[in-house]
Amino acid sequence: MNANNDEVRSTRVTASRHRVPPLARPLASRPVTSPTVRRERLKAVYEEARGCVRCPLHRTRTQVVFGSGNADAGVMFIGEAPGANEDKQGLPFVGQAGKLLDKLLAEIELERADVFIANVLKCRPPGNRDPQPNEIESCRSYLESQVELIEPDIICTLGNFATKLLRGDPTGISRLHGQVEERKLGPRAIRLYPLYHPAAALYTPATLEALRADFQRIPELLALGPLAQPEPPPAAAVSDADAGTDAAGTSASGAPLAPQREDLPAGGSGDGPDGDDGSSPAGGHDGRTTDDSEPPATQLGLF
Ligand code: URA
Repeated sequence: MNANNDEVRSTRVTASRHRVPPLARPLASRPVTSPTVRRERLKAVYEEARGCVRCPLHRTRTQVVFGSGNADAGVMFIGEAPGANEDKQGLPFVGQAGKLLDKLLAEIELERADVFIANVLKCRPPGNRDPQPNEIESCRSYLESQVELIEPDIICTLGNFATKLLRGDPTGISRLHGQVEERKLGPRAIRLYPLYHPAAALYTPATLEALRADFQRIPELLALGPLAQPEPPPAAAVSDADAGTDAAGTSASGAPLAPQREDLPAGGSGDGPDGDDGSSPAGGHDGRTTDDSEPPATQLGLF
């Protein structure tokens, strides 16, 4: 065991500070990079994303919604895009869908401080319209960096857009929800666990029931610990000091999560082969201005 691993071990206990952590990531899943280093790198990616002008959404956003939570989380949730509330507050899932997400987390004895929550898009699409392929493509390296730096054991994709993006396949969420898949995303093997989007469950009891039942399995999946990880190729075996994201916010290894743009599924409501519904965030919209002022210290929400 090296110093890094020791650091990870002690931080993992701290990260689960609220209670004896029945759901904490087992020690065997300790990531290669220390939490402190990963947190710093995430902040660097966030700083890059804050000023992002890669796609037209920067003109209409109030602020970038990078994601928030525990940089040392064993489970990541990936939604679609910020809505009006998220755009205002700079945090993901703070509207009605977020309240439901919090409730479902609480039912399995987790809270936001235990997980990391992000979206496919970091900026709100006007009028909460579906994310466009060029926006998804422009934004994907931020998500790739987040996944690569957080090193989750499980990724729960919420709804069609995240599921299609991470799977690199147009199969819709109603076919896939609740089915765990072992996948290599970038350099890491993870369990991918597609779930209905909470917004889709808000007004459809059957969807809520399915989402809740799928959520109930998260603890047992977390208890499985990490998958065996592929050996990194020699060139990718970099140290804590020199690994990480570059100034452009590209992922540490440059390895994509899933197939590149040519293969990118359109995603979204009703466009899956099985006529899926329900991945749109709730909430209205209004005019916004670009705001480059300092974010509140809590915005990134890294624990
Ligand atoms: N809020 C988010 O942050 N993402 C969604 O996908 C929906 C609501």
